[in-house]
Amino acid sequence: MVKVFVNGYGNIGRRLATMLSADKEFQFIGVAKYTADTKTKDALDNQFDIYVPESNLRQFRNSNYKVSGTVEEAVKQSDIIVDAAKEGRGFDNKKRLYEPMKKAAIFQGGEDRCGVRSVADMIHNSRVNYAKARGQIYVIQGSCNVSGMGRIMQPLAEEFGDEIERYDVTIVRRWADLEDSKEMRDSIEWDRNPHHQEDVKAFMPTANLYVEAYKVPSRMMHLHQMLIRFKTKAPAKDRVIELLSKQFGVAILNSAIGSADVRRKALTLGFQHGDTNMVHIHQEVMRVQDDVLKILYTDDQTGMVIPENHLLLQSMVFRRPKEEAIKKTDTLFQLSRKKRILEEEFK
Ligand SMILES: NC(=O)c1ccc[n+]([C@@H]2O[C@H](COP(=O)([O-])OP(=O)(O)OC[C@H]3O[C@@H](n4cnc5c(N)ncnc54)[C@H](OP(=O)(O)O)[C@@H]3O)[C@@H](O)[C@H]2O)c1
Repeated sequence: MVKVFVNGYGNIGRRLATMLSADKEFQFIGVAKYTADTKTKDALDNQFDIYVPESNLRQFRNSNYKVSGTVEEAVKQSDIIVDAAKEGRGFDNKKRLYEPMKKAAIFQGGEDRCGVRSVADMIHNSRVNYAKARGQIYVIQGSCNVSGMGRIMQPLAEEFGDEIERYDVTIVRRWADLEDSKEMRDSIEWDRNPHHQEDVKAFMPTANLYVEAYKVPSRMMHLHQMLIRFKTKAPAKDRVIELLSKQFGVAILNSAIGSADVRRKALTLGFQHGDTNMVHIHQEVMRVQDDVLKILYTDDQTGMVIPENHLLLQSMVFRRPKEEAIKKTDTLFQLSRKKRILEEEFK
């Protein structure tokens, strides 16, 4: 059995651990914790084995938390590591642990693809380049925004090809995740250089894409306003809805008022971690105006990338055909069922 370890237990690491402990194709080694805080108890309550850096062993023992070993020991016994470190620390993990021990790894979207702290050449987006990840040693799973953009843009590019002139995306980003304790500042912040534009171009190099991103004091999902300019007239709305409704991990909603409606619905319906794991097109505000198609969709920031990591593992480790992998991921995350439920709730 393939042994897998999750390095980090934050918003993403916790969800990856739920996924990997439920998938019987993997032997789940456990998770890494770096701080002996209450999230350690959460991991132990979930029956996850905890590994800590050698230098922090005493801190955890003094707090009476059961520790199964060091992070170094966990990496050594694993075949692949899903790194869920705080943004940017994946690079140090690669240099200090994965490369010397010759271990494969998946990194998250906060890591660099270019420059001196690059962790991998490839950014995975299951809708675009799933097969390319086959047998790769190091791959970045694109961030939630980047995963969502690929999921909408690729079907449009396949359907309309050269008819599309350019994409302009305005991302309205949440300030913090539901589980974060950090305070939100009452401000709207702009981003001097949104990484999303170059990240998407890494897997859709010919897309004429321009991205702006703004951070707002909310915990409830991201919102994307995508404007697609066509060379002549934009296609009819019905045709676009029909195309997008067939996509895996895309729900078409009609009566949500804001991002919190969708998140709260996922929580009240008892979806695991309160995640929908998908993007939600808000059909009632999709507009076609002359040569421009306007799509507004919300993107489940924490949940989106978890099935994406699952698909990526299936490509890297099992070299499975995509259709088979999607079936496995769908069974584990119940994405098609959740999509039906959400579409019914917000019809
Ligand atoms: N949050 C999202 O919605 C989201 C969505 C898509 C992608 N991502 C990406 O996923 C990654 C993780 O984000 P997150 O939101 O889960 O962050 P987070 O909640 O801040 O958690 C980060 C975790 O990293 C741990 N950590 C500290 N030093 C580490 C090290 N050297 N190696 C491994 N782990 C270390 C921390 O451990 P302790 O708590 O024990 O100190 C903490 O559990 C980032 O690259 C981020 O850009 C996040």
